[in-house]
Amino acid sequence: MRKPDTPARNGGPDILQFDVRPLPGAPFGGIIRLNAADPADDFIAAAEANPSALPDALYASEGLILVPGMRMIADAPALLVRLSRLFGPEVENYTETLTDPNKVHPGVPEILVVSNLPPANKPPPPRPDPPFNADGSLPTRFPHRRGWHTDQSYRRPPPDISLFYAAIAAPKGQGQTLYANGIAAYAALPETMKERLDGVYGIHAMPGAGRSEHAVRAGDAPRSLRRHEQPQHQPIVRTHPVTGVQSLFLCEAGQMDWIEGPIVGMQPGPDGDGAALIYELMSHLTQPQFTYAHEWTQDDLVIYDNRTLVHAATWFDAEKHPRRMWRTTVSGNPGNEYAGEKKSWIPANA
Ligand SMILES: [Fe+2]
Repeated sequence: MRKPDTPARNGGPDILQFDVRPLPGAPFGGIIRLNAADPADDFIAAAEANPSALPDALYASEGLILVPGMRMIADAPALLVRLSRLFGPEVENYTETLTDPNKVHPGVPEILVVSNLPPANKPPPPRPDPPFNADGSLPTRFPHRRGWHTDQSYRRPPPDISLFYAAIAAPKGQGQTLYANGIAAYAALPETMKERLDGVYGIHAMPGAGRSEHAVRAGDAPRSLRRHEQPQHQPIVRTHPVTGVQSLFLCEAGQMDWIEGPIVGMQPGPDGDGAALIYELMSHLTQPQFTYAHEWTQDDLVIYDNRTLVHAATWFDAEKHPRRMWRTTVSGNPGNEYAGEKKSWIPANA
């Protein structure tokens, strides 16, 4: 990374250029390494001096950037919010609605705490069965791997970008985050499927509403939802508002509506035609050539574009190991599909 006041190698002065390299072990994504002489707050100040540099790097890396060594965020969590503001006009205040108060950072309400530690007490997902592939690798592909989603897709407009920071990482080999690239997966679909998906909408529902595939199969009674909690329709194929690239946009078992949906206008329920389409698309999207498993190191920051990627958490031994992650969510540029729309999740708008 160069500071704005040092001459650029191939650009004019005052142009910050991050040294973005391909993310090791990933078919997409980039990594930005801080120089030892550039602590995180210098990095953030430099990024603010050229506010399009980091977002441009994110889009050039197909929606995934890793910045290791962001130690300063642990001591000054508001730095994460400062950095988040570079990616869009709105950084969510999690005290507004739909978030349990015990999962909101006590000092910085823009930070969601994802942790097995109290007071958040969020358990990790179960391991897939079997837990590893025959070659010893971590399974990614749905339906063997479960939990694939894009953040808060049960809202309209859905958020743009999340920033995810490891304050306490699980040990290596546990607690990874898996990412799948909806851009590459869409491009690889046969033309007949692309035509079939044109104008098709999925129905996304908030977790815990009793509308998941698991809840419906178990015969659980769905929870009665208030107006601002209602499932929302989202296009299965989104056009990125900055790059114009098309990508798949869907979730699976836990974050779609398996009562009315999961697909608008198709046979509903877990054994219907809509479910078959979700299974086909999610199984395609989560193949190894489109996925990356991030092994967390403490102080890693991962920035991901929810408009083009899906992700999934993995198991860790929560009895033995603490894990504490901080997440911010940035929104405000969802694309023409959502032009002029009020936020569905704010009670006054619903
Ligand atoms: Fe998530």
